[in-house]
Amino acid sequence: MIKTLLVYGTTEGHTARVADRIAGVLRAEGQEVETVEAGNADDEALRGCDAVVVASSIHAGQPNRGIADFVEAHLNALQERPSAYVQVSLSTADPRPEKQEEARSYADRFLEASGWAPDRIALVGGALPFTRYGFFKRLLMKYLAKKPFGITDTSRDYDFTDWDAVDDFARKFSDQSQRTASSDAFVEGGST
Ligand SMILES: Cc1cc2nc3c(=O)[nH]c(=O)nc-3n(C[C@H](O)[C@H](O)[C@H](O)COP(=O)(O)O)c2cc1C
Repeated sequence: MIKTLLVYGTTEGHTARVADRIAGVLRAEGQEVETVEAGNADDEALRGCDAVVVASSIHAGQPNRGIADFVEAHLNALQERPSAYVQVSLSTADPRPEKQEEARSYADRFLEASGWAPDRIALVGGALPFTRYGFFKRLLMKYLAKKPFGITDTSRDYDFTDWDAVDDFARKFSDQSQRTASSDAFVEGGST
């Protein structure tokens, strides 16, 4: 059984839900999974795992600070294992081509600046949890969401995540990491 470490960075909690969903799929595929918030991911957790998924939301065009720090501090460990980057943003949920391009550019900029080349990248649509926002954030997000999503009612939350696509991504990454692990085992077995 292979073990995957799932590190997430969130502000309002949606990326934690995405991470939980991925963890559920990986477990159903027979993997052991440890899920940790970015600030709590230590060297020990990384040493004991065969694969890593890093999930971050985007705020003001930037990934979560804890995730950026984690990737910078553990770049070698990430490069040595099958790894995936999951980016959660509102731009991905916005069908306008320029917004799709914007979502891709957040990921491109972050990965290029960090020097990390994950095996898989998933761009996931985020959420607008208006009931968790304070007054000014609710006003700002209402203004930003009105045109693309036609939202006028801020008394409820909105979820734009394509959960089937999240499941599909998790299954594909699981296949890939299991294959890598079994090919490593084959090389070890063949040398004895
Ligand atoms: C203050 C604020 C700024 C945001 N900035 C961006 C942004 O620049 N680009 C984007 O695509 N989404 C942006 N979003 C949307 C978030 O990425 C989305 O709400 C996501 O679901 C947040 O996930 P989290 O709860 O895990 O932090 C922003 C949201 C808030 C509240």
